[in-house]
Amino acid sequence: MAEHEDQKPKGPDLSKGIPAADLAEGAMLAGHVGDDEVLLVRQGGKLFALSAHCTHYHGPLADGLLVGDTVRCPWHHAHFNLRTGEAIAAPALSPLGCWQVDERDGKIVVAGKETQAAAKSTGSGDRRIVIVGGGAAGFAAAEMLRRRGFAGSVTIVSGDDAAPVDRPNLSKDYLAGSAPEDWVPLRGDDWYSENAIDLKLKSEVTALDTKVNDLTLDNGSKIKFDKLLIATGAEPVKLDIPGATQKHVHTLRSLSDCRGIIAQAKVAKRAVVVGASFIGLETAAALRARDIEVHVVAPEKRPLERVFGPQLGDFIRALHEEHGVKFHLEDTVTAIDGRRAALKSGGALDADLVVIGVGVRPRLALAEKAGIAIDKGVSVNEFMETSVAGVYAAGDIARWPDPISGQRIRVEHWVVAERQGQVAALNMMGIRTPFRSAPFFWSQHYDVPINYVGHAESWDAIDIDGDPTKRDCVLRYRKGGRVLAVASIYRDKESLEAGVSMERQAG
Ligand SMILES: Cc1cc2nc3c(=O)[nH]c(=O)nc-3n(C[C@H](O)[C@H](O)[C@H](O)COP(=O)(O)OP(=O)(O)OC[C@H]3O[C@@H](n4cnc5c(N)ncnc54)[C@H](O)[C@@H]3O)c2cc1C
Ligand code: FES
Repeated sequence: MAEHEDQKPKGPDLSKGIPAADLAEGAMLAGHVGDDEVLLVRQGGKLFALSAHCTHYHGPLADGLLVGDTVRCPWHHAHFNLRTGEAIAAPALSPLGCWQVDERDGKIVVAGKETQAAAKSTGSGDRRIVIVGGGAAGFAAAEMLRRRGFAGSVTIVSGDDAAPVDRPNLSKDYLAGSAPEDWVPLRGDDWYSENAIDLKLKSEVTALDTKVNDLTLDNGSKIKFDKLLIATGAEPVKLDIPGATQKHVHTLRSLSDCRGIIAQAKVAKRAVVVGASFIGLETAAALRARDIEVHVVAPEKRPLERVFGPQLGDFIRALHEEHGVKFHLEDTVTAIDGRRAALKSGGALDADLVVIGVGVRPRLALAEKAGIAIDKGVSVNEFMETSVAGVYAAGDIARWPDPISGQRIRVEHWVVAERQGQVAALNMMGIRTPFRSAPFFWSQHYDVPINYVGHAESWDAIDIDGDPTKRDCVLRYRKGGRVLAVASIYRDKESLEAGVSMERQAG
C-alpha cells in the first residue's frame, strides 16, 4: 500500500492542454505538468488542478472520491480542499500543491504552480494551550492550532522519549525493516521550534488541578493553561504471568518499544507473539519479513473474529499461514521460563523473542484523579470538551457521542485520534466544530490492506460482496436493517462511499 516507487509522470501533458469535453462534471483525470503529477477536477462547474498523490502515503487521488468541495483519498480517507489543497481531515496533514487552470477555446490548460503561504506563529499571544500527550491526537491538535494561526503559546507534554511518530508504521514497514528511519517522525525536530511549539519530551504530567488551571510534571514543575487537551492515549496490557518481565519479552506502543523489538529481531530465530490482535498479527507479519519463525498463541477460535466476523477471520488466519505463521489458537501462554513459553494446553514453545499483543488500556488516571467525568473512557461532548469547561480530551481515551451509531463510543484508531485532535484544536480556538466523522481504521497484513469504516460492536448479519481469498471484497455489518460498518479489501471507492453515506444519514 505504501508505494513510493519512482515513476515517470503518467497521463496527458496538462500544460499542453486537453479537450474540455474529456473532463465531465464530477470527473477527475490524472496527468502531468513537467515532472509533477497533477490531478484535474471538474466539480460544481469549476476546474481545479492539484497534486495527484496524497501527502500521507502517496495514495492516488484519481481513484478517490469527490465530495462537495473535497477530494478524499482512496487509501486512508484523508480529505483535501479542492480550492486550497488543505488537508482538512487526517491522516494527511500537509496540503496538496495547487496549479492555475484555465478553460479556453474548448481546451483545459494547466499553467504555473501556485505558492501556498504557510501560516506561522511566533507564539507571542497571551493565551496558553497545553496538550498532554505527544501522539496522534496531541500532535494533530498542535499542528491545527498553528495552521489556523493560533497566536498564543502551545506546549506539548509527552511521556515519550521521541517527538511524535507515525505509530501505525511501528508494526508495519518500519518493524519489517522496509521503511527508512525518516518515515517515522510526523515532523522533523526543527518544525517544533519553527512553529513555536514547546515540546517537552520524557515528561509525565502527574496531576491536574482544574480549579486553578495548572498541571504538575514529574520533575515537580507546574504549567499554567487557559485551555487544556488531554490526549494520553493507551498503554499495552501487560501479562501477569511468571517470566513476563524478562528482557526478550516486549510490548509495542512507542518508537523505543519498536527499536527494542528490532534489536532483538536481528539476533532472534524464533518468536512467539502472544495475542492475535491487530498489533500481534501485524507484528507477526513484520517478523516473517525478517525471516523469523513466528508462532501466534491466542485464546480465540479465529483471529479478529470479534471485529471482522468469521469470514475475514478465516481469511486472515489463512493469509498468515500462507506466509509461514503457526497458530496456537484456543490456547494461552502461562509462563515464560527463559527461552521456553509454556502453553496452557500442556506443550511449550521455544522463543528468543516474545511480543505481547493482548490489547491496550486507555490512560485515564490523570483525568479521573482530576474529577473529570469518566465512563469507560473520558466522557466528551461533540466538541470534544470534557465535563470541565475548557478541558478537552481526544483519541484513545475519549468516549464521544457518535451521531452515526447514535451511541457514545470509544475506539482505538489512528485517524479518529488525529481528527479528534484537530476538532479539539478548532474548538479551543473558539471555532465551534462538532466531531461527526465516520470512524475509520486500516490494518495491513503482508500485501493485503483491510479498511474499515463505521462501528459495529455486534451485528445480525454480514453481507459479503466479492471474495476475501481473491483480495477483492466488501463486507457490510448489518443490525436492525442498518449498515453499521463496512470492511473491505481493494474496494476503496466503496469504502469511501460507505463513510460518506453514514455521515449523510447522521445529518
Ligand atoms: C504499533 C501500533 C500500530 C498501530 N496501527 C494502527 C493502524 O494501522 N490503524 C489504526 O487505525 N490504528 C493503529 N494503531 C492505533 C493508533 O496508533 C492509536 O489509536 C493512536 O495512536 C491513538 O492516539 P492518541 O493520541 O490517543 O494516543 P497515543 O498516540 O498513544 O499518544 C499518547 C501520548 O500521551 C503520552 N502520555 C500518556 N500519559 C501521559 C502523561 N501523564 N503525561 C505526559 N504524557 C503522557 C504518551 O507518552 C504519548 O505520547 C496502532 C497502534 C500501535 C501501537
Ligand atoms: S495515502 Fe492518503 S490517506 Fe493514506
